[in-house]
Amino acid sequence: METKISLLTAKKKKAVVEKYNIVNNSSLILKMEDRNKKRMHAVVLGEYLQDHRHLIQGKKVLELGAGTGLAGMVAAALGADVIVTERESAMPHLTSTVLANSPNRKHWKIKASVLDWTQPIHYKTYSDVDVVLGADIIYIEETFKDLLKVLMSLTHNRIVQVLLSCKIRYDRDRNFLKMMEEHFSINEIYEDHSRHIKILSLQRL
Ligand SMILES: C[S@@+](CC[C@H](N)C(=O)[O-])C[C@H]1O[C@@H](n2cnc3c(N)ncnc32)[C@H](O)[C@@H]1O
Repeated sequence: METKISLLTAKKKKAVVEKYNIVNNSSLILKMEDRNKKRMHAVVLGEYLQDHRHLIQGKKVLELGAGTGLAGMVAAALGADVIVTERESAMPHLTSTVLANSPNRKHWKIKASVLDWTQPIHYKTYSDVDVVLGADIIYIEETFKDLLKVLMSLTHNRIVQVLLSCKIRYDRDRNFLKMMEEHFSINEIYEDHSRHIKILSLQRL
């Protein structure tokens, strides 16, 4: 990666505030709810986007399971029109993080909204989406079927590109990839060897 997202951490007693340097000498402040949670998948995906901005510049981008919205905010900083999404319970944290980072960035096009994988979505609702992002969303087996359904709905028009940063650690992860291979052509387009994180590009068959 050429344009690293570096972590300049300022620790407070209870909450941990992380500050990330991103493109154009700007930075993102993320308030962490849990000190032990790592943002490495989002960082790797963000770095990949910074180095391949043509994939998202001027495009409509939707991030699934956005957490703090790091990858989505990097996409907004690069000129994409972004929707960062989460399940209802995670929305307050996502919304406040996006709002906290937006005030001086009038040029950003970004909004946060609920997209719960367990709820059916109509493909027309997101028919203008060009690129779907997901950082570390292949992680709980119980969610795999729902996640696959959501990915299928979002790629209904077949032109949409899906970019996932993930660690393929366990048999269950490999099984999920097999499930996806029935519907998507999957290419491993990058690997961060030090963090053992891959970026997969999915295109609907
Ligand atoms: C491991 S975290 C990754 C968060 C973030 N993308 C990152 O890399 O920092 C997985 C995320 O998926 C979200 N998630 C889990 N089940 C979900 C569901 N049913 N609908 C929407 N989001 C879900 C969680 O709330 C969580 O933020």
